[in-house]
Amino acid sequence: MLGQHAVLPLPNPLVFSGGIGQSNRLPCTPLAIRCLITAGPTREFFDPVRFVSNPSTGKMGFAIAAAAKAAGWSVDLVSGPVALPEPAGVMLYPVVTAEDMLRQTDALFGPCDVLIMTAAVSDWRPKVMHPQKLKKDGVGLTVEFEPVPDILATLAQRRRPDQLLVGFAAETENVEANALAKLDRKGIDLVAANSVAGPDGAFGNELNRLILLGRDGFRQALGPAAKAVVAEQLIAALIARLAAPTR
Ligand code: CTP
Repeated sequence: MLGQHAVLPLPNPLVFSGGIGQSNRLPCTPLAIRCLITAGPTREFFDPVRFVSNPSTGKMGFAIAAAAKAAGWSVDLVSGPVALPEPAGVMLYPVVTAEDMLRQTDALFGPCDVLIMTAAVSDWRPKVMHPQKLKKDGVGLTVEFEPVPDILATLAQRRRPDQLLVGFAAETENVEANALAKLDRKGIDLVAANSVAGPDGAFGNELNRLILLGRDGFRQALGPAAKAVVAEQLIAALIARLAAPTR
């Protein structure tokens, strides 16, 4: 009625009431959770205009950042080069190389409660970075590579026991077995096994399917569904995990 204000019911404190484009399906975490997320590919240049990388688009990591924000978490997002809009209310830290990503995540890791590493880190970098564009001379090119640091394993070495560390395993075969092996190898609590094989693989797709695996035998399938939906399911699973008396 004109001239009168509608009386709205008070919001349920456990249900997030989001704005346009935000989720209203996630429970709002009662505690102030600080979340650090990595996303996208990294690039390793061997001359000023050429690099090695992978087809990651960052969509899954950005969707997780939006879902975490919708759950009321504060979110730092460290991303390699992607063509995606910055999720509202999230602190975005753009990086290029694995070394940049290590430095940035290392700086943000201390106070974070939950680390979710979705980034597809390019595992090798050229030993030599040529300062000028290499000229074609009609023959092939041999580039020698060295490994980049393992960011997740490095951070896990100085983790607090109360921090929840989640990795993403990008696999083309034996997806669950290979993902499980990364739990111990990296010293993390949970790993999301993610197939990146073929046209249905995660890279660049609108849909995704994850199997969330824990050291304690925990196993939960998320999706197949749009990445935004899988992201909400992941955050909901982490909220349940954070609320559990033991992890
Ligand atoms: N990761 C990382 N630093 C790297 C490589 C990977 O922090 N140098 C992280 C990824 O962000 C992901 C997890 O480790 O959360 C698993 O990454 P993945 O690419 O699946 O495995 P790798 O450790 O690279 O092992 P492999 O290539 O042998 O499968």
